Amino acid sequence: MSELARVPLADLADCAATRVAGGPDGVCVVRSGSKLYALDDRCSHADVRLSEGEVDCEELTVECWKHGSAFSLSDGEPLSLPATRPVAVYEVLIDGDDVVVIDK
Ligand code: FES
Repeated sequence: MSELARVPLADLADCAATRVAGGPDGVCVVRSGSKLYALDDRCSHADVRLSEGEVDCEELTVECWKHGSAFSLSDGEPLSLPATRPVAVYEVLIDGDDVVVIDK
C-alpha cells in the first residue's frame, strides 16, 4: 500500500469530481455526502479525464463527457458503452483534514 494522492477534504465539492495529481493518469476523486471514491482519471475508452465528467450521486457513477460511458464509482466498471473495460479504483482514507488515496 502506498499513498498515491492527497487533497484537503474542504477542496472537494459534494457530488462532483475533482482531479488530483498522482498516479500515472491523475486521480478522479468524488465526494458524495460522507462517502469518498477515487478512480483512475483516464477513461478506459480513450484518453479523456473522467474528472471532467458528470457525477450522478444517486446512481454513484461518473459519466465520461466524450462518448457517454458511465463508470461505477464503487468498482470502476463501465455500465454503458462504448467503454468495455473498467478503470482502476483506489482506497480512500481520511487523515486529519486530508483525503488520502491509497494504491492497494
Ligand atoms: S472516451 Fe470515454 S467513453 Fe469514449
